[in-house]
Amino acid sequence: MPISRIYLAPMEGVTTFIYRNAHAAVYGPLDKYFTPFLEPHEKRSMKTKERNEVLSQHNEGLYVVPQILTNHAEGFLELTETLQEMGYQEINLNLGCPSKTVVTRGKGAGFLASPEELEGFLDMVFKDLPGEMKLSVKTRIGMEADEEFEKLLAVYNRYPLYELIIHPRLQADYYKNTPRKEVFRYALEKSKAPLCYNGDLFTEKQIAEFEKEFPQEECVMLGRGIILNPGLPVTLRGGDLRWDEKTCREKFREFQQRLVDGYRALDIGDRNVLYKVKELWFYQSHLFEHAEKYSKKIKKAQNLETYLECVRELTDCCRIAPPGSLGKG
Ligand SMILES: Cc1cc2nc3c(=O)[nH]c(=O)nc-3n(C[C@H](O)[C@H](O)[C@H](O)COP(=O)(O)O)c2cc1C
Repeated sequence: MPISRIYLAPMEGVTTFIYRNAHAAVYGPLDKYFTPFLEPHEKRSMKTKERNEVLSQHNEGLYVVPQILTNHAEGFLELTETLQEMGYQEINLNLGCPSKTVVTRGKGAGFLASPEELEGFLDMVFKDLPGEMKLSVKTRIGMEADEEFEKLLAVYNRYPLYELIIHPRLQADYYKNTPRKEVFRYALEKSKAPLCYNGDLFTEKQIAEFEKEFPQEECVMLGRGIILNPGLPVTLRGGDLRWDEKTCREKFREFQQRLVDGYRALDIGDRNVLYKVKELWFYQSHLFEHAEKYSKKIKKAQNLETYLECVRELTDCCRIAPPGSLGKG
């Protein structure tokens, strides 16, 4: 079965509501968008940056799933209630963040070190979760060793998870090594919840190989692959829906303009806007052939006008790299 559902991965600082909206406007809506993680706070329900991510007027027409990072059931339930009042019917629990500061506090992938505590957390959450609220989990497969996953999956299987999104790396892998596909295969056999695969799908070719390897999986979450090549979902639609190379470049340019306009409208100051959009070139520059000279100029641009001129120059002068050569960066 070919991939029929594509989700945009949550990426702190990258897949913001500005990014989601610009992407959907140019490349068409994806099946789901996950917000970068929100954390329950003791004194107030959300920081401004977090509230901006979930305000309904910032997500019109998009299916958005707020993601929560915590190991406290009470805080989780309170934040869930706030999100439900805002109109959300699905939330996601982050059990994958590998960063040291998060892991040492027993959150994200750090929670995977204590399956018993995780079970206690899920017991409390499911006891009080409002009936209409769906809960999905985004998880790594353990902290240190593949073998940890068996126990973790047994825990997940005890609950009516709406969806289980698996990034088959260990916390210790960070983003190194390759995804542990055999563990994903085990999950496909044993998981009670429907699965979504996430990890290292950067090109059409890699996705075709994934489809061959796992013909029973229909759903993927894409992160860096879309940041690198925002047109990837269009390519995957295939057939007549594909765009020619010139259209791809025009659409890419329109997308960059929308990102600048979107961040500018936030009144965060041009320097901050410049910083936000330049960050994307860490990935995006790999989309184009022989783009080093031009992407260097983009990174050096001191104001938004120069930045946009440099983007125009790059998209005029460099062709989009053929699919096989993408994703090497
Ligand atoms: C800069 C950055 C920020 C991320 N922020 C989050 C986050 O807030 N929540 C989360 O669950 N995963 C986060 N991730 C992980 C991604 O959602 C995804 O699991 C990871 O990039 C692997 O997928 P990919 O190979 O398609 O990029 C982040 C990854 C990166 C590179």
